[in-house]
Amino acid sequence: MKRIYFPEPFRIKSVEPLAILTREEREQKIAEAGYNVFSLRSRDVYIDLLTDSGTGAMSSSQWAGVMMGDESYAGADCYYAVQKSAGRIFGFPYLQIVHQGRAAEKVLLPILLEGKKYAIANMHFDTTRAHVELAGARAIDCVVPEALDTLSPYDFKGNMDVARLERYIADMGASNIGVVIMTVTNNSAGGQPVSVENIHATRDLCHRHGIKFMIDAARYAENAYFIKQREPAYRNATIPEIVRAMFEGADCFTMSAKKDAIVNMGGLIGCRDKAVFELVKQRTISFEGFVTYGGMSGRDIEALARGLEEGVDENYLRYRIGQMEYLAARLEEAGIPFQRPVGGHAVFVDAKKMLPHIPYYEFPAQALAIELYREAGIRACDIGSYMLGNDPDTGKQLEAEFEFTRLAIPRRVYTQSHLDVIADALINISERASEIRGYRIVEEPPILRHFTARLAPLG
Ligand code: F0G
Repeated sequence: MKRIYFPEPFRIKSVEPLAILTREEREQKIAEAGYNVFSLRSRDVYIDLLTDSGTGAMSSSQWAGVMMGDESYAGADCYYAVQKSAGRIFGFPYLQIVHQGRAAEKVLLPILLEGKKYAIANMHFDTTRAHVELAGARAIDCVVPEALDTLSPYDFKGNMDVARLERYIADMGASNIGVVIMTVTNNSAGGQPVSVENIHATRDLCHRHGIKFMIDAARYAENAYFIKQREPAYRNATIPEIVRAMFEGADCFTMSAKKDAIVNMGGLIGCRDKAVFELVKQRTISFEGFVTYGGMSGRDIEALARGLEEGVDENYLRYRIGQMEYLAARLEEAGIPFQRPVGGHAVFVDAKKMLPHIPYYEFPAQALAIELYREAGIRACDIGSYMLGNDPDTGKQLEAEFEFTRLAIPRRVYTQSHLDVIADALINISERASEIRGYRIVEEPPILRHFTARLAPLG
């Protein structure tokens, strides 16, 4: 195998011990959890890949910032520290802190969607879709077709299909579309990047039709790193320069800071329009808290100010994406199918291809997630038909576009040995893939069922 180096630009000062259960103990725990990984206790998990959100390791500077946090109700120093770092990174005049990404969506989307029928995105993340629908509009996805073929090695599988967007605008009427959203990186398509060229083409199309253009910026720094590697015009640009180019001329952004700002809690809203910002401030005060703390403790705000700067460091990003590339290379060598090229925050294993004998209504990606726990105490999750759920009108199981088992890698948390454990576990499972059986649901709530449903193995 070609050697991939991803030198860690840090050393480890504090460690968190992990339990390693026996296979028998894991069998018992997952059965007790109703074969739902969300019902496992984290103490029973060896490598937790459920999400990269809020699970990163803070730096010594961020922990020092925790002690410096100013807990004043109004006008705290840490508020000004975030304004300074985020202002410099994103180049937006108006910024509002909130407690996480979905809070930013809850505050901003109803303002943009007032009296409108549609929001169109390259792909909506689940909570974004939920807030579009709660605001009374419909959420439409418009990703490039290359994203749907997991074997095609296309560089920018996160991109908006601009020609299709143009047709949607003509069909729906520009005045019915409240906002066009660009999610960077495109999480639901596999953490796939969006090019600056595509961001600008989408922005310009929106502006020609008087439609607001918003960025869902959860993984903006990873997106910028991919642009530096893959978009020739930006080969010699710095990461902060690329971030500025990505955000140039966008009307607003929402951000879950729990990803690329490497904090355990936090979010941001950016606006260019003062009138929109006034509404954002009012809604923040109602839902989150006074504008200078926005639902956060001062200590967490100070950690956010520092994390924003650390998240755009190129040495950090090289290490971060290098971890994905290392894991992906090991899987590729063993012939394990995944969304290629690998994304920025996770490896999305293609369970439809790995377990072709399990139909979508027996949840192949969930079956693989359960198998990973049994095999090595690894907790991953289903991004497929099990997560998608039932048609609200007919009650019938929907078939998802993808059946992914997502291995989301927390930031600065796991070592190369952990990555090898993950790869070895998948290789062992692939050798007995044909013996793995699907699951049926025995108990489920009507919405967001994947968090709490109970399953049973099929014989
Ligand atoms: N937008 C994107 C693209 C996301 O991936 C997430 C969260 C959010 C918005 C919402 O942010 O969790 O801070 O409220 N994604 C996590 C995940 C939960 O596991 O992919 P939040």
